[in-house]
Amino acid sequence: MLLTLQDIMARPAAYRRDLLNTLPGPRGVHLMGTRGHKGTENLAVFSSVVHVGASPPLLGFILRPLTVPRHSYHHLKATGWFTLNTLHPEILDPAHQSSANYAITESEFAATGLTPEYTDQCRAPYVKESAIKIGLTLEEEHQIRANGTLFIVGRVQEIIVPDHAVAESGHVDHASLQTLTVAGLDTYYRVEQPVRKAYARPHLKP
Ligand SMILES: Cc1cc2nc3c(=O)[nH]c(=O)nc-3n(C[C@H](O)[C@H](O)[C@H](O)COP(=O)(O)O)c2cc1C
Repeated sequence: MLLTLQDIMARPAAYRRDLLNTLPGPRGVHLMGTRGHKGTENLAVFSSVVHVGASPPLLGFILRPLTVPRHSYHHLKATGWFTLNTLHPEILDPAHQSSANYAITESEFAATGLTPEYTDQCRAPYVKESAIKIGLTLEEEHQIRANGTLFIVGRVQEIIVPDHAVAESGHVDHASLQTLTVAGLDTYYRVEQPVRKAYARPHLKP
């Protein structure tokens, strides 16, 4: 099919949401851990995490417009810290459930059975059951004028990852960790054995 902008806008909102959200394909999916100034712990699913840069180490994500209270945002503004934690088949059910809209006073850790874990410096909770845990501080936020979403940039302050999953080169082996990916809001994929290519240079044939 060929859908024009006009065709897309003529579709029902739910169709448009699922079409546009699954269209770019499976991408990384993380549980974001935050803690409010009163100590309430919060968890939420985010699929928009992107690499922003390595020096300094920065990751960014898209946050829905602040038209309703966004607990993760509220907490990360309060403490300046948040964590990103990977998803795996054994924790998919509680992880997905944490995207439900719980009251701000209710901890998604308690509600889903996932376990909060802290390090000395990070003021936000990690998810104990996750294989890869990243602790970040809020660096920048930018509003996308077209729809009011925010692009939040975090500075990576610490990384917790199993030794065996990081190669000498620095590559992370997601296949051995069974890291999950997601398309849209509900369709999770397992990663398969990767095909690793040499760095592409203009004088080399594909
Ligand atoms: C698979 C999946 C991916 C999601 N990705 C995002 C995202 O990238 N940005 C966002 O703002 N919300 C995203 N959400 C929605 C949040 O998880 C949801 O709004 C959550 O309730 C936010 O919780 P909070 O209000 O406690 O921060 C996603 C939900 C699911 C199920």
